[in-house]
Amino acid sequence: MGLLDYYRQFEDVDEEELNRERRARRARERALALEQVPTIDLSGTEWPTFPNAEIMNAAIAAARGRVNGYPDRHAESIRRALADRHAVEPEQVVLGNGAAELLQNAALLLLRDGGDLVTPWPSYPLYPLMAQRAGGRPVPVELAGGRVDVDALSAAVGPRTRVVVICNPNDPTGAYLDSQALGALLGALPDHVHVLLDEAYVEFQDVEEVDACLRLVDAFPRLLVFRTFSKIWGLSGLRAGYVIGSSATGDVLGALAPALGVNVLTQAGLAQALKIGDPEIARRRALVIEQRARVQDRLHDLPVDAPDSQANFVWMRAPGLSGAELAGRLERSGVIVAHGGALGDEDHVRAAIREAAAADRLLTALANATG
Ligand SMILES: Cc1ncc(COP(=O)(O)O)c(C=O)c1O
Repeated sequence: MGLLDYYRQFEDVDEEELNRERRARRARERALALEQVPTIDLSGTEWPTFPNAEIMNAAIAAARGRVNGYPDRHAESIRRALADRHAVEPEQVVLGNGAAELLQNAALLLLRDGGDLVTPWPSYPLYPLMAQRAGGRPVPVELAGGRVDVDALSAAVGPRTRVVVICNPNDPTGAYLDSQALGALLGALPDHVHVLLDEAYVEFQDVEEVDACLRLVDAFPRLLVFRTFSKIWGLSGLRAGYVIGSSATGDVLGALAPALGVNVLTQAGLAQALKIGDPEIARRRALVIEQRARVQDRLHDLPVDAPDSQANFVWMRAPGLSGAELAGRLERSGVIVAHGGALGDEDHVRAAIREAAAADRLLTALANATG
């Protein structure tokens, strides 16, 4: 077929149909590549594919034109777009260079006079570190079967506690605390405690509406909810996250903003992502939910324990094997996973949930490792 004939065949096909076909072709090519590469790496939690070229073009166009000047340090248009998306006021949104920066700023502020930061454990390793950097003391509270133990967490909160951090769904276990259980916990906490809710993976949960826990900021002015563009949005290299709080949060929310804002390139990329990104986010979410259900279902047939995950990864243990042994065996079958030791539990490993071909490789490697 000549080049013109090749393009003519698309003349009667509408743009949406064409995009669907291109996506399907790319997915087939990726599946083939995933089947054939000697080793696949499922140790990370960020989105594995390159971003939409239009999002990056917007960032590059901004780089060509505007970087001699400072960015809008209040990121007005991004905050307005985020406020519309979450049905809050722009004053309730602060944009930062990733959720990690905003979480660290919150710890620096709330633990400036010392005090405890209570967090379920294992969880995201930044939390104890940010408490220490702020001059506070991390207080880990053991999970029960991978899930937040609400009673143990409440019991660990005392007069010295200034901050409770909850990762929801929890990295690395994937467990999700629903808005009803979270609301009950928040209602029982004393007034001197702020709660930092890290929702880096919340778009992957299918228990309830994506903003169900975020809605609790209306009733709990000491709740701060952190989101990121690094995971389902697949833009971790741009460094962007945001925090939403109640309009009654007072000075706390405003004090979390980076001093001179978020850079021009990132703001341009985010503006484009927020404009065109939703259909792709919906596809990624559906893909993870489908493959996660398939993997968890098949895990029941293997000698592997895994708590129910609501994230884009599963947290697994094979009785009789340490996490390092399991990771070593999986690697010999061509699948790299994250070692649990670095994540707070030597017995476990964490594996990312991605497309069907990656899930197949993981399941085959697990069967080899435990067979
Ligand atoms: C639970 C959790 N919170 C926050 C982050 C960091 O987010 P960001 O890239 O927006 O700083 C990560 C990244 O691994 C994470 O797993």
